[in-house]
Amino acid sequence: MTTKPRLLTGDRPTGRLHLGHYVGSLANRIKLQHEYEAFFIIADLHTLTTKPERDFIREIPGYIREIVLDYLAVGIDPELSTIFVQSAIPETYELNLLFEMLVTVPRLERLPSLKDMARDANLDTMPFGLLGYPVLQAVDILLPRANIVPVGKDNQAHVELAREVARRFNLLYAPVFPEPDVLVGEVPTLVGTDGSAKMSKSLNNAIFLSDDAETVGTKVKGMYTDPNRLRATDPGAVEGNPVFIYHDAFNANKAEVAELKERYRAGKVGDVEVKARLAAALNDFLDPFRERRARYMTRPLLLQDVIANGIRRMQAEAKETMRLAREAAGLGYVAELFQDTVDIFGENE
Ligand code: TRP
Repeated sequence: MTTKPRLLTGDRPTGRLHLGHYVGSLANRIKLQHEYEAFFIIADLHTLTTKPERDFIREIPGYIREIVLDYLAVGIDPELSTIFVQSAIPETYELNLLFEMLVTVPRLERLPSLKDMARDANLDTMPFGLLGYPVLQAVDILLPRANIVPVGKDNQAHVELAREVARRFNLLYAPVFPEPDVLVGEVPTLVGTDGSAKMSKSLNNAIFLSDDAETVGTKVKGMYTDPNRLRATDPGAVEGNPVFIYHDAFNANKAEVAELKERYRAGKVGDVEVKARLAAALNDFLDPFRERRARYMTRPLLLQDVIANGIRRMQAEAKETMRLAREAAGLGYVAELFQDTVDIFGENE
């Protein structure tokens, strides 16, 4: 039996993960999985809050596969960590209803993140389910009774809400849930290849963890660099230059980076060379990920196994938590009344 504190975090399956995700959260998760008993949720139900259409739902399985491959590729270790799919845990839907009774509408309406999501999805009025987004997130966090939740700043208020829900439940009924702590990454967001503030799939300025070497080469060649520099003999600006920001973040050869910066400032190296070296460095960085990804891509059953094991593991946790929650709230009465005639909560297997 492990006695490590528990961690839960995850992502909505809406696309492949990129270098920004790596810097902002994946690198940290890989470290944390050794210190915590880690659960990584693929939050497919959360995507429905803004995209309930059948056409989108059809895309979800492919996105789930991509994200799990990304997780495994960067080194999330399925022997240590539990990777699971939210919709495969029936207790999610059940606990969500109980938690809905413990949160007020004005409390949710105050969250700027929800208004942002509604706006981004071109919704002019708030769907009930989207208002409940953070409640569902509290369910994700509290079903495995997580102690710590590493998230970006944008999700900090949601974890705070999860704390409140836990406190309220424990006070009303019995102490079932820990009050989870938020762990906000202070890593600055990674700029896009076009120099805009944030790398993002929708801005078309991302280098994906799954890009092959050639794609990386092409993307780096097209990168935004010092716009005031017309010739290789012009002194160039290193600060704020995305090509050098990436060199700093991903090139393991610090001496090479220092030397390139010096020559760039002095007008003694062309952008073509600086970019060629960046492409090489990025490919060195991504190569181990590519190897692990290939291992799972050529063995689909292995990938299936990882997800199935994660789901089974989480299902067992969820069952136990929900049993405790139902008991605390006194909601086991129907099952008690009809014990031997109907199996209501799947407890008589
Ligand atoms: N809300 C997260 C996002 O921004 C995804 C998510 C769903 C999550 N459930 C979670 C994150 C639980 C941390 C913990 O995409």
